[in-house]
Amino acid sequence: MNIDTAYTLNNGIKIPVIGLGVFRSPVGEITRNAIQHALQAGYRHIDTAKIYANEGDVGVAIAESSIPREEIFVTTKLWNDDQGYDAALRALDESLARLQMEYVDLYLIHWPVDELRLQSWRAMEQAYRDGKALAIGVSNFMKRHVTELLDNCKIVPAINQIELSPFNYLYRKDTIDFCLEHDIEIEAYSPLTKGRKLDDPNLLKLAKKYTKTPAQILIRWALAHEFIVIPKSTNKQRIIENISVFDFSISQEDIEFLDGLNENLVTGWDPTDVR
Ligand SMILES: NC(=O)c1ccc[n+]([C@@H]2O[C@H](COP(=O)([O-])OP(=O)(O)OC[C@H]3O[C@@H](n4cnc5c(N)ncnc54)[C@H](OP(=O)(O)O)[C@@H]3O)[C@@H](O)[C@H]2O)c1
Repeated sequence: MNIDTAYTLNNGIKIPVIGLGVFRSPVGEITRNAIQHALQAGYRHIDTAKIYANEGDVGVAIAESSIPREEIFVTTKLWNDDQGYDAALRALDESLARLQMEYVDLYLIHWPVDELRLQSWRAMEQAYRDGKALAIGVSNFMKRHVTELLDNCKIVPAINQIELSPFNYLYRKDTIDFCLEHDIEIEAYSPLTKGRKLDDPNLLKLAKKYTKTPAQILIRWALAHEFIVIPKSTNKQRIIENISVFDFSISQEDIEFLDGLNENLVTGWDPTDVR
């Protein structure tokens, strides 16, 4: 991937459009190797979280690579147990210690579950001012949560990271449109549906048409919508496959066809009803 294949966030920070996700990448060598493979393949963006328990491996893999820290975009997330002003600041310091880094490129509130989330956001703003996070954002925030935040924040979140694929795009369209209206970029997690829909007949048909794999069709679909996309793999060939998507594009007609595959799919936990 060309490292310039990046979007500019609302505070001027650049984010590479494809990142390596490491949710359920096991602690230890497997994750460290996956990151090395990814960096060799041209990825410059890693998405971790405290709850994934592999921030330490992300830090070691980046430190052991020959790539300067400032060329790699690192995201981590504030876990639910750490919500609240003081707890959130402490949690970021602990994440930074595990990552062996002085800053993360992006710090996200992982879920909107806690009534302390607005206090957490004040801590995120402080971390941003302190230079410990170059950008701050949220994850799994639905339109209602983003509205509440915009009504109460000093710094507008740079990103909302939500589950997105053709199988749930229309389900999330109101949140997506609202975020984009407010200059909040959308980051698509579980873009490969955790593998669940990779043998969907409609997807297979398009993969055949473009002589690409179903995973590549899903990643290219996300890019067509200008979402940042963070597929996870620990397999070297699939890590390479998932970033080998810059030599084709999908026609507008086929993008609309993919959009129509919506079935409100949620592969994790659905934040729709969180108050
Ligand atoms: N903010 C949140 O709440 C949240 C929630 C979920 C995920 N995320 C982030 O988003 C990232 C991606 O989501 P995800 O891990 O849930 O799922 P995903 O990326 O949709 O799918 C990962 C699964 O697909 C397989 N896979 C990867 N590339 C493939 C390919 N080219 N062909 C066939 N199978 C392939 C992987 O297996 P192998 O590893 O064996 O290749 C793994 O089983 C996470 O790692 C995490 O960083 C965030």
